[in-house]
Amino acid sequence: MNVFITGGAGYIGSHTCVELIQAGHQVSVFDNFCNSQPEALARVERITGQRPQLYQGDIRDADALTYALKDSQATAVIHFAGLKSVGESVQNPLAYYDNNVVGTLRLLQAMRACDVKALVFSSSATVYGDPHQLPIPEDHPLSTTNPYGQTKLVIEEMLRDVHRSETQWRFAILRYFNPVGAHASGLIGEDPQGTPNNLMPFVAQVAVGRREFLNVWGDDYATADGTGVRDYIHVVDLALGHLKALERLANHTECEAINLGTGVGYSVLDMVKAFELACGKTLPYQVAPRRAGDIAACYANADKAERLLGWKAERDLTAMCEDGWRWQRANPQGYGQI
Ligand code: NAD
Ligand code: UFG
Repeated sequence: MNVFITGGAGYIGSHTCVELIQAGHQVSVFDNFCNSQPEALARVERITGQRPQLYQGDIRDADALTYALKDSQATAVIHFAGLKSVGESVQNPLAYYDNNVVGTLRLLQAMRACDVKALVFSSSATVYGDPHQLPIPEDHPLSTTNPYGQTKLVIEEMLRDVHRSETQWRFAILRYFNPVGAHASGLIGEDPQGTPNNLMPFVAQVAVGRREFLNVWGDDYATADGTGVRDYIHVVDLALGHLKALERLANHTECEAINLGTGVGYSVLDMVKAFELACGKTLPYQVAPRRAGDIAACYANADKAERLLGWKAERDLTAMCEDGWRWQRANPQGYGQI
């Protein structure tokens, strides 16, 4: 298959490029590098022996998209490109609606113009809001608490509307839980700009000496140890979920939302302990007040992915931490050291 990947130089995108190439697919990447670096694609080449065809551009640029879709002879699209910081989206909601919602609208228009009608979309567990049922099934009511989450919900609704009006479209809406870890080679991984918002990149930067200590945002939640519980999923398992979703779309004209998680929740302190074991160091932390907007617990019911895609997360917490640490130790400044 000729697969066109928006945001393919980013964290999840670069890992997905590797798995697709290794499965024998032709991969093109469309990215404006607003949150990534071309070096990630050079690393994909080091792992796979193939460099994805690169189209540098912005998904809001319909002409650039149409050119790239045609030139790459794409038959399916995986759409990762988007802004993803919850806090930033509260500060600047218009930037998020513009990049994520308008960008996806332009992408769908360009796809229709080029008669490419299969799309795998990066949604998020954030669309479940503060869940009232655990583990969370896909038919849990949808709601969000911030503009970033709202953009994911609006896009999901847009895809459902498009599918209702033109049933030949094929959509897989993948709702990710918490992606962590890195490729086992240590060559690609997560490279957040500035201070990481997410737990595991912050923990990794404490381990490598870039940060003094971790703030644990609250230890008074109704969880076993009082700290927040999440469904951490190895990024390579997540990438493999995209491969399975693409394979399914080849034979199914549908619009399905599917959770990609492990179904198991770990607390912040569980994650710190697991990372300490992986890196062989004690990681200093202090308990701080709850972070605004955080929820106590969130983990997936992952049955639908197994039923529809024949996919199940296979990498455990030890692999998530060991692989994340290998990447961080070998690239203490991320791709920035180059
Ligand atoms: P990332 O920031 O590493 O990757 C996103 C990529 O998209 C980057 O390479 C960036 O340069 C590119 N991009 C952004 N806006 C663009 C635009 N207008 N035009 C062209 N390229 C653009 O993020 P990621 O962690 O790999 O996430 C990928 C997708 O998965 C995002 O849509 C994100 O919202 C979603 N998601 C991520 C998480 C997570 O925790 N990482 C969780 C749930 C959902
Ligand atoms: N946490 C800390 N200290 C930190 C960072 C996080 O204690 O420095 C805690 C949080 O309070 C939470 C847990 O670690 O309990 C996980 O926090 P993350 O920021 O890593 O992840 P979230 O679950 O808050 O959110 C992430 C993405 C969202 C996405 C969601 C579901 O940031 O965009 O997963 O996919 F919507």
